[in-house]
Amino acid sequence: MITKVEKITQESLKEAKRLIEKGDVVAMPTETVYGLGASAFIDSAVKKVFEIKGRPNDNPLIAHVHPDYDLKKIVDYDPPYAKKLREAYLPGPLTMVYPSKNRVSSLVSCGLDTLAIRVPSHKGAQAFLREVDIPIVAPSANLSKHVSPTTAEHVLDDFSGKIPLILDGGTSEGGIESTVLDVTGDVPIILRPGLITKEMIEKVVGRCEVYAPVLKPGDRAKSPGMMYKHYAPKCKTFLFQTLSEAEECCLTQQENGLSVGLMAEESVVNACKIKDVLFYSLGEKETEMASRLYALLRKAEREVDVLVSVEPEKKDGIMVGVLNRLKKACTSVDIK
Ligand code: TXA
Ligand code: MG
Repeated sequence: MITKVEKITQESLKEAKRLIEKGDVVAMPTETVYGLGASAFIDSAVKKVFEIKGRPNDNPLIAHVHPDYDLKKIVDYDPPYAKKLREAYLPGPLTMVYPSKNRVSSLVSCGLDTLAIRVPSHKGAQAFLREVDIPIVAPSANLSKHVSPTTAEHVLDDFSGKIPLILDGGTSEGGIESTVLDVTGDVPIILRPGLITKEMIEKVVGRCEVYAPVLKPGDRAKSPGMMYKHYAPKCKTFLFQTLSEAEECCLTQQENGLSVGLMAEESVVNACKIKDVLFYSLGEKETEMASRLYALLRKAEREVDVLVSVEPEKKDGIMVGVLNRLKKACTSVDIK
């Protein structure tokens, strides 16, 4: 199969709709990362998404809809506070998990009585979702456990020859995946941190909790995706709190004959004194760090044997999400 990469035009949208309706997979841009899209109503299409991505089949998918899609069609109960959040932050990088049973293919939520729904703000994504006018399931368009994609080229790197079409909507500026928020109970619970922060949610609805499970073997997580090793580049990785620890690690790796990269915020990169290191600057602004992270991880895996990172100094607000991804890329073990 040849994978076409097309800018978003009336013709490419028509082609995308035709492919989606016959149960194929089409990659689409969003403001966070690219997604691997398929019809939420066609079992075989949803199954294909899991297969192509190599995704564990107990990790549910997000359904994407355009801003005027009638949520009543796919949601069983919509708590009043959810409406306030939608009015404040949607369209945008906030996925909300609602009570929902038998509304879309049962494969989408892997047997859970809930459905995660997202309304992207990316204009190209909205044009595509309007064209098809059905919920499109779309996990991040990376091979399972690899770094999420923020450009059409990243998607092509992972899925060339495996999907018929990538809609190219430019670089995803948000850079990290949406905040996933459970709205099935009285108080919303953050299942995955992202660009819509706890503080932003509390501002609108007063209270917001963060899901931090202590799981025993055999327990099922509320958001299974958070349990897997994720976002990892193919090179060896290390993550440190301070530059001096990172510099020491760089030297040891170089002594072992390995090529080394250092990823950190701009000021830390500038202060590094080690020779023959490739530098990957996350920039200074928090939004910049979110936006650059995945592209830098993908660049580093092509260029160096070992990537040594230093945690950015700021840890609150959107940096909660950035640090969550950085830690998963650099330190977590695959528990599955
Ligand atoms: O920004 C994003 O959310 C991107 C773009 C493409 O929209 N999508 C994305 O999808 O990151 P994915 O599949 O890589 O991550 C979906 C996350 C997983 O952690 C999954 O476990 C959780 O959402 N999730 C999906 N449905 C759920 C549900 N019904 N209950 C709890 N968690 C759910
Ligand atoms: Mg993902």
